[in-house]
Amino acid sequence: MSTDVSATAPGRLTPVLTDNWDADRSWTLESYRSTGGYEGWRKALTMDPADIVTLVKESGLRGRGGAGFPTGLKWSFLPKPDGGPRYLVVNADESEPGTCKDVPLMLANPHSLIEGVAITSYAIGSVKAFIYLRGETVHVYRRLLAAVREAREAGLIGTGLGPDGTYELDVVVHAGAGAYICGEETALLDSLEGRRGQPRLKPPFPAVAGLYARPTVVNNVESIASVPGILRHGTEWFTAMGTEKSTGHGIFSVSGHVRNPGQFEAPFGITMRELIELAGGMRKGHRLKFWTPGGSSTPILTEADLDVPLDYESVGAAGSMLATRALMVFDETTSVVRVIARWTDFYQHESCGKCTPCREGTYWMKQVMHRIESGTALPSDVDLLLDVSANIAGRSFCALGDASAVPIQSGIQHFRAEFEAGTHTPAWELFPYEASTVF
Ligand code: NAI
Ligand code: SF4
Repeated sequence: MSTDVSATAPGRLTPVLTDNWDADRSWTLESYRSTGGYEGWRKALTMDPADIVTLVKESGLRGRGGAGFPTGLKWSFLPKPDGGPRYLVVNADESEPGTCKDVPLMLANPHSLIEGVAITSYAIGSVKAFIYLRGETVHVYRRLLAAVREAREAGLIGTGLGPDGTYELDVVVHAGAGAYICGEETALLDSLEGRRGQPRLKPPFPAVAGLYARPTVVNNVESIASVPGILRHGTEWFTAMGTEKSTGHGIFSVSGHVRNPGQFEAPFGITMRELIELAGGMRKGHRLKFWTPGGSSTPILTEADLDVPLDYESVGAAGSMLATRALMVFDETTSVVRVIARWTDFYQHESCGKCTPCREGTYWMKQVMHRIESGTALPSDVDLLLDVSANIAGRSFCALGDASAVPIQSGIQHFRAEFEAGTHTPAWELFPYEASTVF
């Protein structure tokens, strides 16, 4: 981290979590410490845990996993200590199509996450923390294991912590098996307990009954990694970035038809137009057709929305959701039908099968999308898609069902003609059978 993090980098960037990504062996403890790493943890250990919760509440930090739920508020939902265990679980199962911020963060700067885990665990009174990692990312798994070992050997976690040496913290890195649904916090907890990952009924929320039915805080990687900066620099520093209700910095993953796709850390409220400029602009000779603010689970937006501030409120007012800040950019060469057909395949494949609307509906939508893509659909199929998607959204057990309906509904809203182009009036309707012509 730079010593003067209040100064913004060229343009609108605010490198905090990403600041040391280009440093030599940035993932090592030595590199992290050379830029002030673990100062927040040192400070936290001099504070009352309840004051840390208050500090994070006042910072306005909102969950960076997508939902944007206030982080400090979530911590404060934990019931009063009863002598039994309570847990911190980091959701590192980043799987939303287009989202690529937690994986590079853990690769380049794993100690920012471990420092955040230590501070958060101390604040909520947990002595055991789990990092639940997406199973396919074996390289990240190895890096996290090495970083946890380094932190333990340096006495930053383990036993004998705190002013009186009575606090201890064990950090476990657990690799899942590569199921999108295990990013849903309660399915993640089931998976961590060794069972098939399927969402649980909420309430009770994990804060009350989570891992092994004990009070549990589940937070995203970027949320937890943002905590050390708040401890080090204070809430005023944090709230000076972003907007009134979406404070601070965030990593925006820009992918698709731009010249230099990548991760851009910027204050909330930056616009898509600015991010596309930071990414080098659209690829030469092409123009924007549509984009997603938060991966495939958020309604698509178009050129008309390029100046919408990327904060939770403004993107919501524009008819979409900021969610994971997975900004996928598509130019005029893209078939919106083909893109949405791929996303629909994904949701059908990842549906866990627990509830009927999603299990059956995603399969139906996939079949209709493929008819449209191959130009063999009926004219009524576009409205059929809308009908099926409306019967999934709001009627499914978890957010995956809603997410599967979103791209189809917003795709038809913006590009209905492209969907209709994949339909044909069948011959029997063009040349209706008339008995009198035969007999
Ligand atoms: P949610 O809004 O139901 O919950 C958000 C968080 O707040 C949860 O941790 C929940 O336990 C907590 N919470 C909410 N109300 C509470 C209460 N009354 N008491 C205690 N805790 C409470 O959202 P959900 O279903 O957890 O996440 C959906 C989001 O996940 C979507 O917006 C999507 O963007 C994102 N997502 C992210 C992915 C990724 O790869 N990062 C993948 C798929 C979805
Ligand atoms: Fe499973 Fe889909 Fe139902 Fe969620 S909405 S519980 S993923 S079947």
